[in-house]
Amino acid sequence: MELAQALGRIAEVPDFPEPGVLFRDLSPLFADAAAFAAVTDALAGTVDPGVDLLAGVEARGFLLAAAVGYARGLGVALVRKPGKLPSVAGRVDYALEYGTASVELPTGIVRPGQRVAVLDDVLATGGTVAATCKLLEDAGAVVAGISVVVELAGLGGRALVPGREVRALETC
Ligand code: PRP
Ligand code: HPA
Repeated sequence: MELAQALGRIAEVPDFPEPGVLFRDLSPLFADAAAFAAVTDALAGTVDPGVDLLAGVEARGFLLAAAVGYARGLGVALVRKPGKLPSVAGRVDYALEYGTASVELPTGIVRPGQRVAVLDDVLATGGTVAATCKLLEDAGAVVAGISVVVELAGLGGRALVPGREVRALETC
């Protein structure tokens, strides 16, 4: 399937989870094998050759990082919502488009100097990927790019990750 057709599987849901928010729901894309494969291949192509490890952001980022990790022969560091991990290497709190959130990294997963690419489904305000980059760098990693399926450019998320390479399959 062509990438454009695959990206067309993303649903736009007005007023979710709050009035005024146009929510991009990737559920139909993930459920369509050909669309998921096309997006996985395209995202895999955005990851630099020298990358050692992927970081997938819970929850939808896990799906993408797992698929790209398999395609590229790379492992995945799970960047988790709080309270899920028995042993935490670090935690970063941040603001979301709606509400607040935190991300945590398990201990012993990221080694100092490793080049880690961050994968997620949507770049909105940028809080999640910015927090993830800080989490990884606090653990000694080198962040080697950020790849997302959709960038909501109007929310200005790139400004929270200045100087970093951000690759989006679709910008809207
Ligand atoms: C969504 C999305 C990104 C983040 C983007 O995650 O999957 O991780 O928000 O927003 P930001 O750029 O404003 O930080 P959500 O917290 O809804 O988690 P989910 O994947 O568990 O549904
Ligand atoms: N879709 C999915 N996740 C999100 C969105 C969205 O539109 N905005 C912020 N996180």
